[in-house]
Formats: sequence, structure tokens, C-alpha cells
Amino acid sequence: MNWTSKGAILITGATRRVGLHCVRQWLAQGEQVVVTYRSERPVLKALQESGAQCLYADFSSDEGVMALIDAVKTQVGPLRALVHNASVWPKDDVDGANHTRILDEVLAVHVRAPYLLNLHLADLLRAGAQNYSDIVHITDYVVEKGSLHHIAYAASKAALSNLTLSFARRYAPLIKVNTVAPSLLMFNEGDSEAYRRKTLDKSVMGIEPGPEVVADSLAYLFNNPYMTGREIRLDGGRHIR
Ligand SMILES: NC(=O)c1ccc[n+]([C@@H]2O[C@H](COP(=O)([O-])OP(=O)(O)OC[C@H]3O[C@@H](n4cnc5c(N)ncnc54)[C@H](OP(=O)(O)O)[C@@H]3O)[C@@H](O)[C@H]2O)c1
Repeated sequence: MNWTSKGAILITGATRRVGLHCVRQWLAQGEQVVVTYRSERPVLKALQESGAQCLYADFSSDEGVMALIDAVKTQVGPLRALVHNASVWPKDDVDGANHTRILDEVLAVHVRAPYLLNLHLADLLRAGAQNYSDIVHITDYVVEKGSLHHIAYAASKAALSNLTLSFARRYAPLIKVNTVAPSLLMFNEGDSEAYRRKTLDKSVMGIEPGPEVVADSLAYLFNNPYMTGREIRLDGGRHIR
């Protein structure tokens, strides 16, 4: 990464999979990194020993989000970037009793938390801007396609995607705001062979790319002074399949 940094990179929900990969890469590059976590995992100790600041945050309520904002203001200081990675992927419960609970859950994590964090941490992002700082919303390919079984999830990621446009307008030129929209990055443990084959077959590239493609996209955005209010699509060409 060749951008010069005056502050920390804050990434939400990053003690596993894609987020964890990015954190490890930034730490190896000597960046100041702040990680939010909800579940206690053994990896937390290793991250702290490598220099990461780990802050507890549960986004299921506004109080949880505001508690994180207070912690960042008192314990962190200027921010070079804010990456909204935390996510849940519940199936809809269209015929059951849980459909509104699921809708509330995805909206809390994918919309309310990013909205509040963007509003309340803007001054720290301005303070951390050498020439500019970055907000990145990690959304999903389903924003352009919809979803058969994750309707609430898709709608909440679409709202997150729209936050990119409004915040990019509001915060220019000191804070750039962009979206990274992946389709399959990593399978989950326990995904069946049949599911894996069906999913791989949805893109023309036909691979499970892993978290590196997100880390590369974030580096691109952090290095690019001219891109804001836009989206990087990481979907292996699903739209041309
Ligand atoms: N993996 C893929 O193939 C794929 C495909 C398309 C889009 N994406 C997007 O890429 C990003 C990274 O994906 P991933 O697979 O690495 O995600 P992941 O493994 O599901 O991890 C998501 C993280 O969000 C945290 N989180 C969930 N609910 C939370 C809450 N209420 N409060 C605070 N934190 C909460 C989780 O915390 P806990 O540790 O407590 O569970 C977890 O660490 C996500 O935004 C995802 O939507 C991923």
C-alpha cells in the first residue's frame, strides 16, 4: 500500500474470514488497525499482540453502536478509514413467526450501524485525512439481482449501497465513500458439494476467490484519490453468465 496514513483503519466484525484476512495484511504493513468484535475468539489475543486495538461492539441495538462510537472517540482518535464489514446472512422466515425479527436484525447490522457510525465518526475521519480518508461499505451482488431466500438481507444490503451515494455527496472532498459488492468469496464450513458446485457455476470465472480480492479492492480504493460514490463489483462475471 503506498498511501500515507495519519490515522487508524477501523473495520467492523473482523475477527474471522474476510475481515480477519484484511486486518492481518494491514498489521503486516505496519498500519494502525482497530477491529470490532462481538464474539470472544482465541484470535483476539493474537491480534492484540500484533498491535491491533480490539473493541467490543454489538450492533443489534443503537445503544451497542453508540457505545462503540464513545469507545472510538475516547480510545482511538483520528481515522484513516472506516470499513463496514460486519454482516449477518439469515434466511427469510416468510411463513414463520420470525420474519420481522430477521428484518430488524439485518437492518440493524447493515443499515443502522453504518449510518450512525458514518454520522458520528466523520470528524475523526476528517482528522485522519492526509489528503482524504475513506469509508467503504461491503455489500453483496444480490443488490443488483435480488434473492429468493434472503430477501431481507438483500434489501438491507441495497440500503447500505445507497448510503454510499448520500455520504459520498455529503462528505466530499475530504472523505471518499465507496462500495465493494462481492458475490461468493468463501464458502462456509459445512457447505455441501452440491451447493458448492451450483454456486461456482453461477459465475463465468467459476472459482472461490477467497478474501484476497476484497483486500486488494480496499487497497485500490485507499490509493485512489478520484473514486467516490462508486462500486467495485467482485462477482466473477455473474451478470454475463
Ligand atoms: N463470504 C462471502 O462469500 C461473501 C459473499 C458476499 C458478500 N460478503 C460480504 O463480505 C463481508 C465479509 O464476509 P464474511 O463471510 O467474512 O462475513 P462473516 O464471516 O459472516 O463475518 C461477519 C462478522 O460480522 C459480525 N457480526 C454479525 N452480527 C453482528 C452484530 N450484531 N454486531 C456486531 N458484529 C456482528 C460477526 O461477529 P461474530 O464473530 O460475533 O459472529 C462476524 O465477525 C460481509 O459484509 C458479507 O456480507 C461475503
